[in-house]
Amino acid sequence: MKRPKENAPLELLLETIAQERGLDLRGYKRGTLERRIRKRMERLKAKDYAGYLDLLRKRPAEVNQLLDAVLINVTRFFRDPPAWEFLRDQVVPGLLDRALSTGSLRLWCAGCATGEEAYSVAILIAEQLGEPSAHKIDIKIYATDNDEDALKIARNGKYSEEALELVPAPLRTKYFGGERGRTLVPKLRRMIIFGRSNLLANPPISHIHLLLCRNVLIYFDQVAQQHILTKLTRALEEGGVLFLGKSESLLRGTTNLHPLSAKWRIFQLREREGAMDKQPSSAAEKMAQKASDELHVLKAYQQSILETVEPGILIMDSRDQVITENEAARRLWQSSDNMTGKALKETALWDKCPELVTHLDESRATRPATIRFECKSPAGLSLSITIKPILSEGSKGQVGTLIHMEDVTPHNALQSTIEELETTTEELQSSNEELENTNEELQSTNEELETINEELQSSNEELETTNEELQSLNEELETTNAELQERSKQLDELNQHYGAMVERMPLPVLLVNADGSIHLFNSAAQKLLGFADPSAAGIRLDQLPLPTAMRRLLAEKHVAVVRAGRPEVLTHRMLETDENPGFANIHISPVLSDRPEHGVLIIFEPFPVAPASSDGKKAAAKTPPGNGRTRSRNNKPAKASRR
Ligand SMILES: C[S@@+](CC[C@H](N)C(=O)[O-])C[C@H]1O[C@@H](n2cnc3c(N)ncnc32)[C@H](O)[C@@H]1O
Repeated sequence: MKRPKENAPLELLLETIAQERGLDLRGYKRGTLERRIRKRMERLKAKDYAGYLDLLRKRPAEVNQLLDAVLINVTRFFRDPPAWEFLRDQVVPGLLDRALSTGSLRLWCAGCATGEEAYSVAILIAEQLGEPSAHKIDIKIYATDNDEDALKIARNGKYSEEALELVPAPLRTKYFGGERGRTLVPKLRRMIIFGRSNLLANPPISHIHLLLCRNVLIYFDQVAQQHILTKLTRALEEGGVLFLGKSESLLRGTTNLHPLSAKWRIFQLREREGAMDKQPSSAAEKMAQKASDELHVLKAYQQSILETVEPGILIMDSRDQVITENEAARRLWQSSDNMTGKALKETALWDKCPELVTHLDESRATRPATIRFECKSPAGLSLSITIKPILSEGSKGQVGTLIHMEDVTPHNALQSTIEELETTTEELQSSNEELENTNEELQSTNEELETINEELQSSNEELETTNEELQSLNEELETTNAELQERSKQLDELNQHYGAMVERMPLPVLLVNADGSIHLFNSAAQKLLGFADPSAAGIRLDQLPLPTAMRRLLAEKHVAVVRAGRPEVLTHRMLETDENPGFANIHISPVLSDRPEHGVLIIFEPFPVAPASSDGKKAAAKTPPGNGRTRSRNNKPAKASRR
């Protein structure tokens, strides 16, 4: 491509960027380029192109910003609706007819940006064909662009409301789903193969029946446009259709493309001749072309896989020159520019991962071996790196090396969390065992306490029973006591009564207990027997102030009466007392004849002393009944003991 040199400093800048950074912007229109580069320069406060070049050298990421600024991704679904209507009504039916007979339909959307145009044409086909798989047509829709970020969005298939504003409502309902109805249905997403391709540098896809390259050529100068148009024409099958943007036109004399709609820039390739590149004619050329096409498709597949997978991937050829990489690899090693085409030694990976050198050598030490190791990324992530030799199926040995880089930071964190959890679990288990032991001890203590408690309860119950019994006994005793008191009172009264009765008797009377103690006596008895004090009650019978013989006799008779319960009378006995010398009959009777233990009643029946006889002895006044005896003078009456 030859073009006149105008703005020397700009040209120098473009030349240097192409050489040093691998970004070739030399085919783009100078006006557009200048505007976009100056915008970047203003933002970065670079005074001139030389200053901006310095900045580009110091900040490797700036080259991506520049590319972003130059590649304008503005696009829409069904952009320019009348043009799409023409395509739908005038072009697609013919293409489908032909496809139905050949069994193949190949479309290419070059410069597809974020994918809206490619999906629009897929919708047109799906609408007219119904279920494509039902027609046994092998439909291939390729969509390529030089902007990897735009391609990512395209593969994702999720769009803003603004991008969808020209989609007719029925089509939107039919082909969009998701939460807000802005995501393409998987069936449609699967129809398209997205891939990165530079229209200036890469070969075209071949055997295309419909080629859309809209609003791309406008950014290029005439030389580049010519170059691209030649490639696009070469890509078309005879009868194939080229769909350009409404401000784009063919360059005169370069093609034999005939307008189907001059207004909407839709052209058809009738036959190949003139300025067109020569098509491969020989069988070998055709095979080479086919192989190139297939290679292109395979590269698109491969790139699509690489950009989808999470780990970073770098593939090198046998001379350690990078031939493939993915976005993840660039992100992990903070590489602002593409590594593809560079020797591994010139990449960010080589600078930032010193361990790589050693492990790469190790993987090739004796025979090719897979090596795994961990290292830190510039952002401090833990990366698991696998160096895997790529071996050819034949005997060529190692034809390349794959470097697989996986961020294992979350995995490592998880592992350490698991280990911590295991330790905690073990500690918990041992604490649990201790608690179980303590619990068992507590249980046995509790059981002992329960036993003691039960014993205490039963003792308590026994005490309560005993208490109740004592209470009832007490009550009984109180009752008995009250009864006894009453009886005692009655007895006292009876005693008084008897006392009074005995006292009133004209004869001396003694009431003697069964044991011989004197219980009661009256004044007559006191007088007869000479008691000085009425308190003589209580003295025994054998202590009466009577002669000894009389006292013994009385005691014997008292015992006899108590034993037999029959009364006895001692007649005409001499009672020689100090107070009343004389005779008496003495009646000794049980108080109660059937209960002699209750004591005896002794009644003295005195009678006057008999006149003295001629021999000087006194005779009884009258003979008392019974066998009277004289008392012995020697038997002096015993003095009653006094208390
Ligand atoms: C304005 S968009 C057009 C999008 C779509 N075709 C349309 O008309 O709606 C231009 C696209 O061309 C792409 N482009 C620019 N230079 C390119 C090149 N050298 N190779 C491939 N694509 C290129 C840009 O990345 C951008 O996505």
